Amino acid sequence: MVHVLNPNLVLIGFMGVGKTTVGRRCARVLGFRMTDTDGMIERRAGRSIPEIFATWGEERFREMEAEVIREASARVHAVIATGGGAILRPENVRVLRSSGVLIWLWVAPEEILRRCGDRMSRPLLTDATDPSERVRSLLEVRTPLYAAAADVRVETTGLTHGEAAERVLQEYRRLAAGWSELRQDDGCRRAN
Ligand code: S3P
Repeated sequence: MVHVLNPNLVLIGFMGVGKTTVGRRCARVLGFRMTDTDGMIERRAGRSIPEIFATWGEERFREMEAEVIREASARVHAVIATGGGAILRPENVRVLRSSGVLIWLWVAPEEILRRCGDRMSRPLLTDATDPSERVRSLLEVRTPLYAAAADVRVETTGLTHGEAAERVLQEYRRLAAGWSELRQDDGCRRAN
């Protein structure tokens, strides 16, 4: 008998789109292990994300992020919620794509700003004199990267986390069913 592993469910997208909350709900339904890469970094460093940025700078944070993404991608039956900047390094995208289905959570910029009200936990917004301008410029750079990395985009503007999770699960199930074909182009088949 051939044992087929289900691909991991990887959530990508901008700050404040609900990757961790939605991811937790999906993990519960699928019986997968929840993996939050920011949480892994914080536990490893013994510091919060803002402290890591303040003490060691963004570049060091990106190194740590790449390391935990490699580790998380090697797990099986995991929901992996990534940080908003995970797609900045092509190597991160490559390992995440080899591990599972990439679902891009999309929320309208105005709603992102509302959700990122507590800017203190997000160092890239804390130091901005005009946070809405910062969100817009980051989105401009990152939107094409999310689009290139993702298998599908799920629009969640105005949805509750529960509704968003339902849509994500729907897309995950559809894409997981064709998983081995989905990754043939990447040359990294895993599920056999
Ligand atoms: C970042 C997003 C954050 C965190 C760090 C950098 C980014 O994660 O990784 O502050 O570059 O967009 P969330 O997307 O979970 O807020």
